[in-house]
Amino acid sequence: MQELNTKETSVALADDLANDLALLLEPYKREKIFVLTDDNTFKMCFPLIQQVPGISFDRCIIIGAGDAHKDIAALTKVLEALVVGGATRHSLLVNLGGGMPCDLGGFAAATFKRGIAFINIPTTLLAQVDASVGGKTGINFMGFKNEIGSFMQARQVLVDTSLLKTLDSENLISGFAEMIKHAYLKGTEMLERTLRFDILNPDMKELAALVAESIKIKDEYVTADPFEKNIRKALNLGHTIGHAFESFALKKNRPVFHGYAVAYGMVAELYLAHLKLQFPMALVEQLSEYVKRVYGSFEYAAADFDYLYETMTHDKKNQAGRINFTLLRNPGEVAINIHCERHEVEEALKYFIGK
Ligand code: GLY
Repeated sequence: MQELNTKETSVALADDLANDLALLLEPYKREKIFVLTDDNTFKMCFPLIQQVPGISFDRCIIIGAGDAHKDIAALTKVLEALVVGGATRHSLLVNLGGGMPCDLGGFAAATFKRGIAFINIPTTLLAQVDASVGGKTGINFMGFKNEIGSFMQARQVLVDTSLLKTLDSENLISGFAEMIKHAYLKGTEMLERTLRFDILNPDMKELAALVAESIKIKDEYVTADPFEKNIRKALNLGHTIGHAFESFALKKNRPVFHGYAVAYGMVAELYLAHLKLQFPMALVEQLSEYVKRVYGSFEYAAADFDYLYETMTHDKKNQAGRINFTLLRNPGEVAINIHCERHEVEEALKYFIGK
């Protein structure tokens, strides 16, 4: 196991998942240890940690797979399992899976008996570079994503990039969008390295190295501002319009993966950055071409602008009824809280469909 030298979230890269986990669980040997996973990950990944030397799990809590299950009913199920299983304040919850078990399990751990320790073992690319790192926990509520939640850092995040070998291509491409976002926040060199990487035909060793860099970029922002009062908002690049695209797609019964929506959202938001902050148009065009090639197209019409704009008004970054964006002046030069007028947002939405 190799510690990543992150500051706010403790992240380690696994060499041998079961043995590395055995080391992490050593201090909890005499306490109750619970595992939370979803039904897909239970089949695919739980067998890899079931035989942790010297450790027996008290209970494996299994919830339905997919973001639709990141809800209050699943939270109730987890909390009930902790109560019935006799969990105490000293118990540990191990969240095994993608963003959903990490967010939900983190929130259950943050609230159970006012907080118990948890470890995240993210099994998707998206969860490895984003959801499992940084202490955001929560569930969806009344149709709004992550409407209820808390900030609480995992005791440890254990990242095993060898799990990515079995991940399907769409999930890999989806997670890669968050790595592209981190690269824009870091600067030109990281951006060029990331966009050069062939995610459609990935070299897993190079991907593992990029994952480690990407986690460090995220951790720099989280360390600077753990509770998202200011500069952590940078991590929302592409997400204001991306979330609107995601809920629009869901409403039309053709859901898209989160990372795909973020990739489309980044194109529109970089165009906004060009309008507001003179972000170089050549770089907007570069991303637009890249996204079309790797993520395909995303369709909507001018008649959908009302819905898309209305959805953006629910964004957590908004203040005093104004929609605020995270934008860039250049790669690595972030500007947060940039208010954009409706006609500017519409111009960006038009640019995206005109491509
Ligand atoms: N996913 C953005 C953040 O953790 O702040």
